[in-house]
Amino acid sequence: MQTLEHDDYLALRAGAQVLERDRHGDKVLQLTDGSYLKLFRRKRLLSSTAWYPYAQRFADNAQVLAERNIPCPYVIGLYRIPGARRDAVHYHPLAGRTLRELIRADADIMGTAGMREQLGRFVAGLHEAGIYFRSLHLGNIVLTPEGELGLIDIADLRAGRRPLPPHRRRRNLQHLLRDEADRAWLHAGGDPAFDAAYQRRALERAQQ
Ligand SMILES: Nc1ncnc2c1ncn2[C@@H]1O[C@H](COP(=O)(O)OP(=O)(O)O)[C@@H](O)[C@H]1O
Ligand SMILES: [Mg+2]
Repeated sequence: MQTLEHDDYLALRAGAQVLERDRHGDKVLQLTDGSYLKLFRRKRLLSSTAWYPYAQRFADNAQVLAERNIPCPYVIGLYRIPGARRDAVHYHPLAGRTLRELIRADADIMGTAGMREQLGRFVAGLHEAGIYFRSLHLGNIVLTPEGELGLIDIADLRAGRRPLPPHRRRRNLQHLLRDEADRAWLHAGGDPAFDAAYQRRALERAQQ
């Protein structure tokens, strides 16, 4: 992690577009070169984020996902910014758009059972690969121009060596159903494609 003086931080973010902010301030910036800077507040000294900062977790997780061939952002820098009491991870966004954006834009591809099927296979693949992604929802899954699915917002993820046990799978799948619009799309008109594809893939892997 590289320490950024406040002036260097201001220079880096000059002209940036703020993509996300909350009551504490800016959260995600798009810099003028198209790269992203995601900011994390430094927490109390005694919390786990002090010894394993979120920006570092993001970078480590990007490496794990890349090793397992799961598309995700490409990290180019990690900064500590004492002047702003923030850490930051600097990355190239994963090419594509989030499934949530595509649903809102009423994209044709989201109207098909094929997309639900692809998502079911994808999530089953994560679970088989031992990945428990706490922020699993359609706003954090991107459809790439190559037609593959990938993950963004990856600070909060656990990657084990073994496939997830059933209770963790169920709990993780529930994360996908929290958002009402996500849920409506997943099970549109009683479409079983997502669940069926998830189960089929999980079963195939278990038999191998
Ligand atoms: N392909 C992409 N790669 C990275 N971020 C993207 C991409 N497409 C859209 N975004 C947007 O980037 C912003 C930051 O996303 P994210 O990392 O999920 O942060 P958060 O959910 O904490 O605001 C969101 O507005 C998200 O929709
Ligand atoms: Mg997100």
